[in-house]
Amino acid sequence: MNVRTMNIDNQKEYWDKVGKQKTFTHPLNIELLSQFFDKDATFVDYGCGYGRIVEELIASGFSKVAGYDTSINLIQRGKERYLPIHHIADPSNLPLENNSVDCILLFAVLTCIPSDKGQATLVQLLHSKLKPGGILYISDYYLQNVEVSKSRYTFFENEPDNFGVFTLPEGATLRHHTREWIVSLFADFTVECENFITVKTMNGNTAEAFQLIVRK
Ligand SMILES: C[S@@+](CC[C@H](N)C(=O)[O-])C[C@H]1O[C@@H](n2cnc3c(N)ncnc32)[C@H](O)[C@@H]1O
Repeated sequence: MNVRTMNIDNQKEYWDKVGKQKTFTHPLNIELLSQFFDKDATFVDYGCGYGRIVEELIASGFSKVAGYDTSINLIQRGKERYLPIHHIADPSNLPLENNSVDCILLFAVLTCIPSDKGQATLVQLLHSKLKPGGILYISDYYLQNVEVSKSRYTFFENEPDNFGVFTLPEGATLRHHTREWIVSLFADFTVECENFITVKTMNGNTAEAFQLIVRK
């Protein structure tokens, strides 16, 4: 599968294939979010999958919430639950005005985009959609400190800075991140807080994740 077919790497054939079975699990810290936002703030969940976070935000009383994802099957799964989530054919074409969103969530999406270039393009896009002072809430993985993970990490297309890439037996190419890369990726933002949590991956393995809140 060519993961570089678009500027922002996309493996939608994979996500469409597994869309019916996978359960996504990174937890949303509503209590923390509520410290930043009133109930009328606008939220966008980028790479929303089947919309579980959109559903949770709505259940928590936030009303201006929308999700976007490139997998039509995942979107379809959430639409069956009448969630306000939308399919985008092109990951770099997010149909929102610039400077219009209070908060964008990016949960377990960077891990699906193996290249530095793809990730940088996406973060630039999301930056443009946030209002000045808007928040980006990221949940993702640094490099895991266990032998089984360490042994499978490679460089994306042999680029020396693009480390932490691995391919699952089921076909997707994923990525874990060096701290240096994450710091440089969000250099245009101010860090508000960072937490570390243990999560179950979509394949049922235990992993250490970071959650980062950064401000435009
Ligand atoms: C591990 S799932 C997480 C879904 C959701 N954020 C959650 O936590 O429930 C990753 C999601 O990112 C989406 N995705 C992957 N690459 C993407 C891209 N380049 N643009 C938009 N969505 C993407 C996939 O379709 C999938 O829904």
